[in-house]
This record gives sequence, structure tokens and C-alpha cells, in this order.
Amino acid sequence: MDCTKFIEEQVRNLRQRVGDGLAINALSGGVDSSVVTALGHRALGRQLKTIFVENGLMREGEAGRVIETFAALGIPVERVDARKEFLGALAGVTDPERKRCAITETFYKAVFGRVMRQSGANFLLHGTILTDIEETVAGIKRQHNILSQLGIDPERVYGYQVLEPLETLRKDDVRELAGALGLPETIAQRIPFPGPALATRIVGEVTEERLATVRQATAIVEEELASTGAFQYLAVLLNDRATGIRDNRREYGQIIVVRCIESTDARTALVTEIEWPALHRLAERITRIPGVNRCLYDLTPKPPATIEYV
Ligand code: XMP
Repeated sequence: MDCTKFIEEQVRNLRQRVGDGLAINALSGGVDSSVVTALGHRALGRQLKTIFVENGLMREGEAGRVIETFAALGIPVERVDARKEFLGALAGVTDPERKRCAITETFYKAVFGRVMRQSGANFLLHGTILTDIEETVAGIKRQHNILSQLGIDPERVYGYQVLEPLETLRKDDVRELAGALGLPETIAQRIPFPGPALATRIVGEVTEERLATVRQATAIVEEELASTGAFQYLAVLLNDRATGIRDNRREYGQIIVVRCIESTDARTALVTEIEWPALHRLAERITRIPGVNRCLYDLTPKPPATIEYV
């Protein structure tokens, strides 16, 4: 793709749409929202306020890491603590679509509604990409950041307009754009991480305790599998238990699934052929997490499976 032309067009478009108004965008640290942040700041400067929503569902140390990275690029990011709101909305919810709905509502209505009201902003800049739209429209999965494509008019329902400058791009284009916008390789080549974060990797109820388990497993998987160069790798906590033995005693423990896939745009995926020694090391480290006594490797391509579990 012609990145220079795309950037020029989007900068012009964003300036025209926002005029002398104020826009807000949420940065999660993933490549899509990072590109929107860089593009938005290039177009709007101080007319764009970037926030990092602490939803309690993020990876270990994520908020600090993301805020520091952008501070080094001269882009200030404000932290908004919404942990109680998200965990409250997810309490007792086990159905995957209801979980996604709870996150969407909390994100757009409760958190953004408040931030927009307090700041007087009238635009929300969003990192929706083409794959998110296609899969939502096809009814495969409700991506949490899709609104108008589902018939939700954000202006009427939430009181602000949503701008989606990446809506025509796929993941590989977004990575190219990240480089063209001067974002560091650590962001441009970062593996995808979904907006609803670790909630997409907990089958069953999302609780603080279960989040802590999947967070530890995620850190191990990301450390161990970075050298594979795979498109995406992740850990999932199942809603089942299995009998095991620890310290010569029976234990009814948690089960973690490791998923590692090859893809170019996340629409289809093949399973990475990981060497046995690496799998053994993963199993050994993951079963050291308190309460976890099984580690499985997912052998399913997409389709028929999706990449995330929720
Ligand atoms: P699935 O699980 O649908 O995932 O095969 C495809 C790709 O999209 C990511 N993903 C999301 N990204 N919001 C996002 O920004 C979401 O709600 C969402 N759900 C899945 C997933 O990590 C994979 O890369």
C-alpha cells in the first residue's frame, strides 16, 4: 500500500471531520490503536486526547509500558481507572456474546460517556480494521469495537461520533503504516491483542482470581514463544477442571490451553509447529502456576476454530 498517500488522506479527513472540536481515543498498546494514536496526533495535535483505559483485563505491566512508550514519542496518555466498572459488569456473566456485550456497553456507555462528558469531546477515534467489520457483519463474532455496522448509531445512543480511519485496512497494512508513522518495531510488529483483552481468554466467568491465573500464563507464553515469530500466541483458561497430583496429594486443578498460530490477516490461521522441547518447557512453567495442573496445546486451525476462545 502507499502509506504516504494514505496518511495524507486520513490527516486531511480527520482535520475536516473534527474541525475545531475535540476528539478522544483509547490506546490499548496494540498495533491498531497505536497507529490511530500516532495518526490522530499527526492530524489533530492537541485537539486529540489519548487515554489508556485500565479495565483490569490487561496483561502484566501493560499500562506503564504503553504510557512510557508513547511519552518517549512525545504523545501524552492519560490513565483512566475503570477496573471496578468492567469487573462489576462481567460478574456472573459466562456466555461469550453477553461477555462481549458487557464490555462494549461498559466501554462506550459508562467509561467513554463519562470521559466525553467531562472533556467536552464530541468525537471518538477508533482503531477498527476491515477484518473486525467483516467478521461482525458475517455474524461470526461481535467484535467489541463495532457499532454502526451493527445498526448502533453512536451519536444517538452514546452522544458522540465515532471516526474509524483504519476501517479499510487489514492487519498487514496496519503494521506497514505503523512503520511509516515512525512507531517503534516493538509496536509495529507486536502480536495482535484483542480489545476485550484477557476476557476473551477466560472461558466462563471473569473474576480477579481467574484473571490473575490467565495473566501469569500469558506472560509465560509470550516469553517462551516470542522466538517462534508466529503471528499470535496466547494462553486460555478453561472452565473445566481436571484431577492431578501435587506433592503426593490429589488436586482438582485448572487447565490452561496454549494457542500459537500462523496467519497474515487473522481471517484464517494455521497452527505453528512448535518443537517438543519448547512445548515441554511451556508445560513445566505453566503447571507451576498455583492451581494449574494441566497445559494443553491447541491443534485447531481457523476455521473451524476462531483464534480467541470467547
Ligand atoms: P478471532 O478470535 O475472531 O480473532 O479469530 C481474530 C483476530 O482478532 C482479534 N480479536 C479482536 N480484536 N477486538 C479486537 O480489537 C475484539 O473484540 C477482538 N476479538 C478478537 C484476535 O486476537 C485475533 O487476532
